[in-house]
Amino acid sequence: MKTVAFLLLPLLLLGADLEFNKDGQLVRPKTYREWIFLSSGVGMNYGTGPLPFGNVFVEPSAYRKFVETGKWPDKSIFALEIRQPATEGSINKGGQYQTNLLAVEAAVKDTARFKDGWGYFAFNGNATTAKVLGPEAGCNACHSANAAVEHTFVQFYPTLLEIAIAKGTLNPSYKPPDQK
Ligand code: HEC
Repeated sequence: MKTVAFLLLPLLLLGADLEFNKDGQLVRPKTYREWIFLSSGVGMNYGTGPLPFGNVFVEPSAYRKFVETGKWPDKSIFALEIRQPATEGSINKGGQYQTNLLAVEAAVKDTARFKDGWGYFAFNGNATTAKVLGPEAGCNACHSANAAVEHTFVQFYPTLLEIAIAKGTLNPSYKPPDQK
C-alpha cells in the first residue's frame, strides 16, 4: 500500500493543475488558490441580485510565459472563483467582503483539443469534473469578441495589461479606452 502511494504521488503532483479524465472532462483544479492571482471584480457579468465577487487565478508556469512573451502558452489554465458578497459583518460597516463559494469556472487553452483553441468549464457546487461547454453557454462568443489578449480579459488584470502593451500582443479588435 505504501509503495503504491509512493509511486502515485509524483503522478498526482504532475497532474494537479491541468488534468482531463478519460471521458475528456476537465478535473476540477484543486490548487488554484496557490496559483498567481490576477484580479478581483465585483458584479462583472453574472446577472442580477447581490453582485458576486470574481477572483481570477492563472497556473504559475503559464503566468511566467506571459510575462516573457505577452502571450499564453498552449495548456494554460485559468480559474474564476465566484463568491457571495456580504456587508456589515464584524467590524465592517459600509464595505463589501467575500464569503461562500458559489462556483468555480475554468478556461483552458488547448489548440489540439478545442475548435477555436479555448475550452470553458463550470464546476457547480462541489462538482469534481466538468464537460466542455458548448456555444449555447455563450462563453467562447463573449471571450473571443471582447477580450484584450487572445480570449482572456487582460484589460481587467492591470499588471498583465502593462505587459501586453509593452509586448504589442493586444488583439487588434481591442482598443484601450483612450483610443476609442
Ligand atoms: C458577457 C461576456 C462574458 C461571458 C458570456 C462569459 N465571460 Fe468569462 N469573463 C468575462 C469577463 C468580463 C471576465 C473578466 C474577469 C471578471 O469577471 O472579473 C471574464 C473572465 C473569465 C475567466 C478568467 C480568465 C479570462 O479569460 O480572463 C474565466 C475562467 C471565465 N471568464 C470563464 C467563463 C465561462 C466558463 C463562461 C461561460 C459559462 C464565461 N466566462 C462567460 C466575460 C464573460
